[in-house]
Amino acid sequence: MNDARIEVCVFDAYGTLFDVHSAVRRAGSALGSRAGAISALWRSKQLEYTWVRSLMHRYADFWSCTEEALDHALTVYGGADPTIRNALLNAYRTLDAYADVRPALERLRDRGKRLAVLSNGTPEMLKQAVEAAGLADFGMLLLSVDGLRVFKPDPRVYALAGDALGISPQAISFQSANAWDVAGATAAGLHGVWINRIGAAPEYGGATKMLPSLAGLPELVR
Ligand code: 2OP
Repeated sequence: MNDARIEVCVFDAYGTLFDVHSAVRRAGSALGSRAGAISALWRSKQLEYTWVRSLMHRYADFWSCTEEALDHALTVYGGADPTIRNALLNAYRTLDAYADVRPALERLRDRGKRLAVLSNGTPEMLKQAVEAAGLADFGMLLLSVDGLRVFKPDPRVYALAGDALGISPQAISFQSANAWDVAGATAAGLHGVWINRIGAAPEYGGATKMLPSLAGLPELVR
């Protein structure tokens, strides 16, 4: 990465800033031993639905994908009371931020980097999540795919970052915990950094910069 050229750090939201599994941890105690499996299937189906909808040209927003994915996951694992379903969805609107997020954002801000979020989430979801996680004071530009009506990794999504910020893709470092998302951003000309929180095996060519958390990012984009 040519560090001197990075002006803006753009972050994926779900899985990168916000812990998608915190919804089940917080509101899913009634799921008992099924909780972990339901949370994992909820996430994987949510993403699958975005990809399939984009390919079919049948956009429905990320909140709809999130609801449909939860309903599927609950059905697979024996169903759940509507009260639990609603509690899980409410928790998803106010997910926990990972512990490394705030310190990394502070150091990047102190170094003069502009900060933004680029996500499949709707504008309403992103605003609510950032506020609930106590990150609103960073004044991050919140960029949603919703106006484009297509999901990541369509190249138009990543082009949105440069267009909205008025800079070339080469001046943007894009961070995501989702390897496929980093691959999409890199293909669109951004500097991709894979935040490999779970120590997953390399994929999508492996040329990407990789960090185990956001803690090392301020040094990488200095
Ligand atoms: C996001 O766009 C992919 O969930 C991820 O926030």
